[in-house]
Amino acid sequence: MRAYLGMTMKAAAVLAMTTSIAKAEDVEVLHWWTSGGEAAALNVLKEDLAAKGIGWVDMPVAGGGGEAAMTALRARVTAGNPPTAVQMLGFDIQDWAAEGALGNLDDVATAEGWDAVIPEALQRFSKYDGHWIAAPVNVHSTNWVWINKAALDATGLGEPKSWDELVAVLDKMKEAGITPVAHGGQPWQDATIFDALVLAEGADFYKAAFIDLDPAALGGEKMAAAFDHLIKLRSYMDDNFSGRDWNLASSMVINGEAGMQFMGDWAKGEFLKAGKVPGTDFVCIRFPGTQGAVTFNSDQFAMFAVQGDAKIAAQKAMATAIESPTFQSAFNVVKGSVPARTDVPDTAFDDCGKKGMKDLAEASAAGTLFGSMAHGHGAPASVKNATYDVITAAVNGQYADGAAAAKALAEAVAAAQ
Ligand code: GAL
Repeated sequence: MRAYLGMTMKAAAVLAMTTSIAKAEDVEVLHWWTSGGEAAALNVLKEDLAAKGIGWVDMPVAGGGGEAAMTALRARVTAGNPPTAVQMLGFDIQDWAAEGALGNLDDVATAEGWDAVIPEALQRFSKYDGHWIAAPVNVHSTNWVWINKAALDATGLGEPKSWDELVAVLDKMKEAGITPVAHGGQPWQDATIFDALVLAEGADFYKAAFIDLDPAALGGEKMAAAFDHLIKLRSYMDDNFSGRDWNLASSMVINGEAGMQFMGDWAKGEFLKAGKVPGTDFVCIRFPGTQGAVTFNSDQFAMFAVQGDAKIAAQKAMATAIESPTFQSAFNVVKGSVPARTDVPDTAFDDCGKKGMKDLAEASAAGTLFGSMAHGHGAPASVKNATYDVITAAVNGQYADGAAAAKALAEAVAAAQ
């Protein structure tokens, strides 16, 4: 009961309310999967758990990229009442583990042989101090382009494979009277495009800048070039881009109002939900100049340290369900992501999903698979947020040129560490 002492009346009321709703065998899940495609994928999980007798108490916190969800989580934990399982990305998982807030999935992971089938790149975030603390549900990647097929065909040009080819396609789309780039001006979306622009300057360069945080790379010529490209892309967006949700930007491409969106493969979930077919209605390509390398993020369910045998049993049953190969296929086919284990066949996936799986395996083997800075897999939140500030300022025209933005980025990252 000590936890009650420091709580406000409101927090105590929330705790009492949630406790009365949640049955012992329920899992309470905090997540930000609220768009059409995301909700469809989440349903696959809910139904899978329901079939296994595990109840679901939903705690959705809208907001792409999960920033609002992480703020809500902090409030719940501060109130002494963490949810059972929380959708979480990369370094955030490690930060919560370091605070001692997470549970332990070692017995499930050992019994089911997770070490052998979940890639090292994911384990780096699912384990803390050698112990399993989270169950990875997928692998997304950010260096994708989603193009309206009819709009591309109308340009008379092929799929762009270089920056110059991309600009040529965008110019033609502009001439045709559509918005070339569908974008939502929110910091995490600006940063998602920037992942790809930095990767396009070279896989080694991405690693130096966004994984190793090398000041010379962060403030150097290649970073300046990436910012110049970002500033150029801004000129292909419509005037109403500010604050737009990412799934509304996807809709603009789906209905032909816009030509393309630079977004992670969760965008594919929106196209599929709208009944669109890859190769027929839309085209998925790697951001020009990034084929062969992948910037990834993996949604994982971090398991909080909950009290009571029944709750812990439900938590473990959820983790087991998530790592089942059949679930991994069913869920990721709908979500747009690829499986979090290496032994899931690609047969049920569409062409974009098959490409995603192949690209991931190849990048992993070639040493060109890197964590997404925009989605919390490059560096901890303090550094990520520092990059957001500079990237968004660049989109909003606050720097004279790319070189000025690169200088600001190197300074901001240095200050954030
Ligand atoms: C990402 C997350 C995806 C998708 C996206 C937009 O951070 O990994 O699963 O939900 O945000 O909300």
